[in-house]
Amino acid sequence: MKCVILYDSIGGNTEKVAQYIFDTLRDAISIVDLIKFTPEVDIEIFEYDLVLLGSPVIDWLPTKRMMDFLKKKLQSYSDHGKIVPSSPLIPGKYGICFCTYAGPHIGKNEALPMTMWLSSFLEHLGYAVLDKWHIVGQFHKETDMNTQGRLGNILGRPNDADLINVVNRTKGIIGALSEFMGEEKRSTERV
Ligand SMILES: Cc1cc2nc3c(=O)[nH]c(=O)nc-3n(C[C@H](O)[C@H](O)[C@H](O)COP(=O)(O)O)c2cc1C
Repeated sequence: MKCVILYDSIGGNTEKVAQYIFDTLRDAISIVDLIKFTPEVDIEIFEYDLVLLGSPVIDWLPTKRMMDFLKKKLQSYSDHGKIVPSSPLIPGKYGICFCTYAGPHIGKNEALPMTMWLSSFLEHLGYAVLDKWHIVGQFHKETDMNTQGRLGNILGRPNDADLINVVNRTKGIIGALSEFMGEEKRSTERV
């Protein structure tokens, strides 16, 4: 099984989460690539059996550059006949969408459109999206939104408990996909 974690992160919260996912997956999955999004990044998504897409929530959505990249990919796949009506699921192709978010105004509802957006992308390709993970992440600048928002005091998040949660969820995915995993292991990091 070949897996990629493609993520964006402006201040480091989502990067921390992505790194924990990577460290957990690489013990179990044959090939795991950890790729931090930059404008130079290009990947062939269909090469991967398990695709994890992550981003901070920015105005309820993924970062603009990540959305632009994925929209371009979708267009190119569509031009090559890979996006077909009804988007049938491709056997053995799975996805997970994750984000970090602060939820200062309406809590988790601020994060749901974002993972829905990423999930829609993967589903158009025919990937079965197994789960969406929403992890709290504080704002990096000093703001009362870190203490006065709907989620209460989020200073220091994602904290150790959040990251243990990420590891446990990742282990759950490994368990579910264990029959597809080969023996040979390789992992790379591009951060
Ligand atoms: C410009 C900007 C816009 C943001 N918009 C939202 C938002 O709409 N909803 C939300 O819950 N958090 C929002 N946040 C908070 C971030 O999603 C959160 O702090 C996240 O953990 C940052 O991740 P990073 O360190 O990986 O960049 C915003 C942060 C910034 C800087």
